[in-house]
Amino acid sequence: VIVALVSRKGGVGKTTTAVSLASVLAGRGRRVLLVDLDSQCSASFSLGVGRRELAPSSADLVLRGASAPALIRSTRVTNLDLITSSVDLMAADVELVRRSGFTLRLRDALDAVRERYDFIFLDCAPSLSVVPQSALVASDAFLVPVVPQFLAVEGVQNLLDAVERLAFRAGGHAPEPLGLVMTMVDYRNRATRENVDLVRRTFGSLVFAVEIRVNVRLAEAPGAGQPIVDYDPGSTGARAYGLLAEELLSRVAFPSAQGHAAPAALVSGA
Ligand SMILES: Nc1ncnc2c1ncn2[C@@H]1O[C@H](COP(=O)(O)OP(=O)(O)OP(=O)(O)O)[C@@H](O)[C@H]1O
Ligand SMILES: [Mg+2]
Repeated sequence: VIVALVSRKGGVGKTTTAVSLASVLAGRGRRVLLVDLDSQCSASFSLGVGRRELAPSSADLVLRGASAPALIRSTRVTNLDLITSSVDLMAADVELVRRSGFTLRLRDALDAVRERYDFIFLDCAPSLSVVPQSALVASDAFLVPVVPQFLAVEGVQNLLDAVERLAFRAGGHAPEPLGLVMTMVDYRNRATRENVDLVRRTFGSLVFAVEIRVNVRLAEAPGAGQPIVDYDPGSTGARAYGLLAEELLSRVAFPSAQGHAAPAALVSGA
């Protein structure tokens, strides 16, 4: 299953969720590939890759047509492979729009390796520019991290609408919304309960039951170059992402049990 982490809003936990879920699932014996598609390279750094070790990267794939196998590297986490990103990817938004067929390049490249993995996560930059668009076109499903703040509902609705329009333009290929994940939930903030309830009322079963609370250890782990499950396995953050991974597995295996339509691509790919 290929899953893109997307949102137009920055700093909502896309990278943390991608790295944490990828590591938890790898720890449970799934074969996982994480593709860093953000020129900030946060996912690569979070897994301990140094600044001078970023090349070759997803920029070679997206901009220069390199094949995915040439870019895949193993990580310190067993069963977890990585394609790094690089600052070159910043050029992609300008470069790619001039070329025809650019949205399909990533999809074709990943199609060549998808059989090797149970899960491929695509960590995107906070926008719906051409690279995240390519990621959505390459995906079976997408996950949207949501911080329960003022206007969170509007932001998510805009994103879901935009993905639908994009799918229409891309010739009908529509990644399924796998779900919304509430992140950085902080009930010390009095508005949080109200915002969480509003998101749940509006989007119903699309919202994962598991919530990721604010946890300092989650903020520290990237600096140590380790996923949370290795950095501090007993932390509330590690446990929350463990539960989220379980819920994700149940959604992928039995999507209809969650009350939303069963995407065929997900059922077979589990
Ligand atoms: N549950 C959490 N509790 C505390 N800090 C968190 C939590 N989740 C993420 N963070 C921290 O918040 C910051 C933003 O998170 P992250 O990088 O995952 O967001 P993002 O959506 O990928 O951001 P960007 O849009 O810039 O790519 C990071 O410093 C991260 O370590
Ligand atoms: Mg990020």
